Amino acid sequence: MYAIPFLDIPPLLHAGGTVRLPGSKSISNRVLLLAGLSEGTTTIHDLLDSDDTQVMLTALRTLGCGIESVAGSLRITGLGGRLQGKEAALFLGNAGTAMRPLTAALAMLAATQGGTFELSGVPRMHERPIADLVDALRPLGCRIDYLGQTGYPPLRLLPGSGALDLSAPIRVRGDVSSQFLTAMLLALPLLTEHQEAVIDIDGELISKPYIEITLNLLARFGISVQRDGWQRFVVPAGSRYRSPGSIHVEGDASSASYFIALGAIASTDSPLRIEGVGTDSIQGDIRFVEAAQAMGAQVTGGAGWIEVRRGRWPLAAIDLDCNHIPDAAMTLAVMALYADGPSRLTNIASWRVKETDRIAAMAIELRKLGATVVEGPDFIEITPPLRWTPAVIHTYDDHRVAMCFSLAAYNALAEPTPANPVAVRILDPKCVGKTFPDYFETLFSVAGTKPEWIPVITVDGPTASGKGTVASALSDRLGYHVLDSGVLYRATALAAIRSGVQADDASGLAALAEALDLGFDSGKIRLGGADVTALLRDEEVGALASRISALPEVRQALLRLQFSFRRLPGLVADGRVMGTVVFPDADLKIYLTASAEARAQRRQQQLEAAGVSTTLAGLLAGLRERDARDQNRVIAPLKPAADAVLLDNSALTIESTVDAVKDLWEQRRPFA
Ligand code: DC
Repeated sequence: MYAIPFLDIPPLLHAGGTVRLPGSKSISNRVLLLAGLSEGTTTIHDLLDSDDTQVMLTALRTLGCGIESVAGSLRITGLGGRLQGKEAALFLGNAGTAMRPLTAALAMLAATQGGTFELSGVPRMHERPIADLVDALRPLGCRIDYLGQTGYPPLRLLPGSGALDLSAPIRVRGDVSSQFLTAMLLALPLLTEHQEAVIDIDGELISKPYIEITLNLLARFGISVQRDGWQRFVVPAGSRYRSPGSIHVEGDASSASYFIALGAIASTDSPLRIEGVGTDSIQGDIRFVEAAQAMGAQVTGGAGWIEVRRGRWPLAAIDLDCNHIPDAAMTLAVMALYADGPSRLTNIASWRVKETDRIAAMAIELRKLGATVVEGPDFIEITPPLRWTPAVIHTYDDHRVAMCFSLAAYNALAEPTPANPVAVRILDPKCVGKTFPDYFETLFSVAGTKPEWIPVITVDGPTASGKGTVASALSDRLGYHVLDSGVLYRATALAAIRSGVQADDASGLAALAEALDLGFDSGKIRLGGADVTALLRDEEVGALASRISALPEVRQALLRLQFSFRRLPGLVADGRVMGTVVFPDADLKIYLTASAEARAQRRQQQLEAAGVSTTLAGLLAGLRERDARDQNRVIAPLKPAADAVLLDNSALTIESTVDAVKDLWEQRRPFA
């Protein structure tokens, strides 16, 4: 996998259809920890597969939990409260939902059973405070050392006296991050078999809905915490983890916020449907729905689904205390760009200690788009742009910054003459992997724009110039779709052979081409549902493809199918006449050449690797003959578009050819 340095999103215009959301990060990591501490096996369905859950899984595996993937679900065999190994070093990335609860659980296990554990993360994790949790654990008898700066990870957890003291209430600060309380609540049942544990909250507890998720999931694992308002929590004596056997993770409500916003901004004819999380969700961020409604969204929903469409437009400005929806509130900050006046989001001090300082980050990036932003220690105020400016959005390794700024691409709805074919450039778009690895694919499956705004790169050239390999590698590197147009001619040929349509029956062949039922999934090509990847490479199929590709009726019939490959975020199209007939408006046209000798040598290497022996002279003669035929044919002759860039790669490897094309592409883009 290549890192993709940036993703350009053209001005978007509408949205519609259905999205299915990945599992909730908050639920996934809590369930993983609870399953890992329980006795016996828990089957987890619809677990989120992302960076943050991977670090938790790796940590559990290191600690000796059994982890098995069965038919798309995960089976975790827990420790049953007994340490398997006495030493481990755990790397927890930037996952607060792994660092905090593992610190609490392992500090208690290390102290009572004797063990030494080191917990570390990425540099940003070492800037995220943890002192309040350490200060809650130490009075029990837990021994915790700071390995770097006092008050921050990395930490070393050390053996204690064997028993921990629960006689006095444990004091936990509630006003910096609710994750400290969550961590204590998740871990305390390790100690409560014979005695109760009492937690008193210092300060006003923030992000209460996250505590509700914690209590809800603890109940699923047999622990019923008693609470007195939000001030005191009691884990009763006799509490111990009991696996529910199997558990389902609901879709992520914070992730839903981007699509709820999308519906409110861009879904006009029919609603945008969200599946996997519904109005019955146990996640606090589901209350983002109310905030979106206050801005004008029309929302309906039920168990496991939500439908949203645009109501008011422009959206209504809001002044909202966002303490109950800290993560989803970032989405409101981008919705505020489309509002009828200044919006104010308050009580969001916790933004400053998240993946990045989110108040500062949002202010800087919103200003780039033309908004006027005032920030304070715990609030942000956004006045929509008078004139929108296309912008390069820095994402600070923060998945939510990347996801919510993609919604700024709807600038054309607020300002109908987009100044630029790129509305926003999102830097390091893969940072969404923290919670929603397929975010952009999901967005583009429901977002629409004018086809002519979707970038296209065409790659053409003589046979064996490497154009197919280059096109495919380039599409990987840019995160674009790829069209190997030769496959369409080959598939038409295969369909003709199968149905007995003759090679000179132009209208019969055109009808076949028009109705091709082609599918592409994970490197396989399907015709009518069946895998034909290998069959399409057949000699006979290739020969017929070559013949029928000379029929204007067939070429015409395949045009619409080829246009349909022009999908967000962009297309690399390979083959004859891509840059002249099919995509004459392509943003970059590459004509790849190489000397006949170089191409013959490459072909020989390919054939030899496949166990076929040939002579160079024979191959060379064959290539020259094919070149002449391709260049001189009347229909769709092989020739570069007038505005194509000629790239002779005789002396280049495929890798360096791809690099060269990618450089050309980046130079041509706006913001270069
Ligand atoms: O690139 P290929 O060998 O898979 O292509 C199969 C045939 O289709 C080949 O004879 C060239 C022809 N073709 C075409 O005429 N126009 C295209 N855009 C792509 C392929």
